[in-house]
Amino acid sequence: MMKMTDGMAAIAALREELRHHEHCYYVLDAPEISDAEYDAKMRALKALEEAHPELLTPDSPTQRVGGRSAEGFRKVTHSRPMLSLDNAYNAEEMQAWDRRVRELAGELPVRYAAEMKLDGLSLALHYEAQPNGDARLVRGVTRGDGQVGEDVTGNVRTIRSVPLLVSAKKLGAAGMAGLPGFEVRGEVVMPIASFRRMNEERERAGLAPAANPRNAAAGTLRTLEPNIVAQRRLDCYAYFLLIDGEYAPAGQTASLETLETLGFRVNPHRTSCASVEELLAFLERVEAMRPTLPYEIDGVVVKVDAQATQLRLGYTGRAPRWAIAYKFAARAGVTQVRAIEVTVGRTGKLSPVAVLRPVGIGGTTVERASLFNADEVERLGVRVGSWVMVERGGDVIPKIASVASKPEGETEIPEAIPEADEPFRMPDVCPVCGTAVRKAEGEVDSYCVNTDCPARLVQSLLYFAHRGVMNIDGLGEVLVQQLIESGLVRSIADLYTLTEEQLVALERVGEKSAQSLLAEIERSREAGLARLLMGLGIRFVGERTAELLAGAFGSMEAIAAADEQELMAVDEVGPKVAASVREFFANERNQALVERLRTLGLKMTAEKKQRSTELAGLTFVLTGTLPTLSREEAKARIEAAGGKVAGSVSKKTSYVVAGEEAGSKLEKARELSVPVIDEAGLLALLAPSL
Ligand code: IVH
Repeated sequence: MMKMTDGMAAIAALREELRHHEHCYYVLDAPEISDAEYDAKMRALKALEEAHPELLTPDSPTQRVGGRSAEGFRKVTHSRPMLSLDNAYNAEEMQAWDRRVRELAGELPVRYAAEMKLDGLSLALHYEAQPNGDARLVRGVTRGDGQVGEDVTGNVRTIRSVPLLVSAKKLGAAGMAGLPGFEVRGEVVMPIASFRRMNEERERAGLAPAANPRNAAAGTLRTLEPNIVAQRRLDCYAYFLLIDGEYAPAGQTASLETLETLGFRVNPHRTSCASVEELLAFLERVEAMRPTLPYEIDGVVVKVDAQATQLRLGYTGRAPRWAIAYKFAARAGVTQVRAIEVTVGRTGKLSPVAVLRPVGIGGTTVERASLFNADEVERLGVRVGSWVMVERGGDVIPKIASVASKPEGETEIPEAIPEADEPFRMPDVCPVCGTAVRKAEGEVDSYCVNTDCPARLVQSLLYFAHRGVMNIDGLGEVLVQQLIESGLVRSIADLYTLTEEQLVALERVGEKSAQSLLAEIERSREAGLARLLMGLGIRFVGERTAELLAGAFGSMEAIAAADEQELMAVDEVGPKVAASVREFFANERNQALVERLRTLGLKMTAEKKQRSTELAGLTFVLTGTLPTLSREEAKARIEAAGGKVAGSVSKKTSYVVAGEEAGSKLEKARELSVPVIDEAGLLALLAPSL
């Protein structure tokens, strides 16, 4: 036994505290301490772990964001298939299902457990017991085709409502002490607020928005960069507990309670009932709640509660007979297109927007819907006068799903009909400034190329002032319009020459608001390189890319002087971003703008981040199964720290990392006297770079 040192005790205590507060914050939504106090504890733990790298374990709260997942995800066969569910769409179908369940159950009792059906993707979480009785998250696997999924552990670890460790104490409280392990299945969702934030950010970076929170969650979980996953703020709600590949014997209601005891997030909107009438009442209550929930749901899952009854009912090919998904009607409505308008964005991109006859969908009146681009209009076949199916997902702006037929009894709007057969055409000139529009070969989007187009300038200034960018509070749309119309502002740089007299001369601008705006503008000079880089509105350069570039180059000058190769040497910067950055700085007007901003005193430097080099010059060979890291993770982490991973052992190999069932490579290492380390040894080598 190792002696318990002071460092160990302090680390253990801090970890336990942080786990407790994570649970309060991310699972119970009831924090007990402030964010600042939490951060301070986290920093203290990091410092201690840096001083004692040998004590670092992957279940530490500091280890949520590890290395990249490298080239892909390992395939994993599920302990038991992850099945899908049959659906019911109305009360009659629910009643029919209930009758069938009772028929098949015979003399066995029938109670139901009903839960919200969250609209995300299902995930299997595997926990393994440690010698001290705690259980550690070892694998997170996507559903895949139901039989075989993908190992996305590195990404799952970033989801704060997924415990990295379940303590022996909690396992004891749940009556699960002494088990070798267990599995939890649940739904990963992207909360609507995160989804909107992500799409705003994508829009700003010139990327296509994700269609809905489910796609966004699925895409995020398969991202190869855990840092990005961590920023996206996914959430996970547990709905099954499996022991030895079997559903926990206590039944569904009790299992959900056990999952709560273990520290998992379980959706609180659930019920246990004996009759189909009670079920139907619950369905109604949930549907009424739907518009106000922070995540998307598409129905309710009803499960037979008792395991004995479940076993009696059994399975059809693809789904259990003992469960059903009651699906809500889509949040959609049919209405008529009155006009198709074209708006001009910050990058000059022209976007068609359908102006609709107002229609109520899921509690709000919808009057406009996005059509994205000319190809989308053509694909849908939308014309002025078309009847269309409008869907409201997590997006603020609804979208048109398809052309629909005129609902019976509806009247047409007379003004739309004459044009109804004219297909939509993107205008050849900008609808705001009249400049000829550019549509690059092979690209779907059309652009107004006039960098002085007032529509672009309005959008550029609003973007520049945005909270996540230069954060100039008080510079809203009305004021921006006034500044442009009065001729005071013709470019971003003009903001920094505004005076109080000029501002108060504008309509509805008082002395006080003028002063506070000027103070905000003044403050923004210090926003720093990354923010300013974002603010310039370079295509594909959103928050993360701007931070990476700023960290890698340290100054605006260095970025402006870098060629595409040098830009691509930055992690995560690909050819598209590099070309866009080059194009921006090659343009004389942009060069002049940057120079003017420099003269006006805007901060254009950042602290340069060193690339990790702890393992530079070292070559590793991996063999056998490591206790917590997958092959890909181990490789990625070595490479992130500057080391190399080779496939075979030679004299040049610095270390062989051996896990369980290591084979011939281990023998070869001994033969050649190459040092052999285990996972803990590797983590210790990696620790300084964390
Ligand atoms: S039970 C065999 N419970 O819905 C059991 N699924 O249509 C199937 N889902 O693939 C899963 N919330 O991704 C279950 N409370 C819940 C759920 C839920 C969402 C998803 C899950 C599943 C799909 C089935």
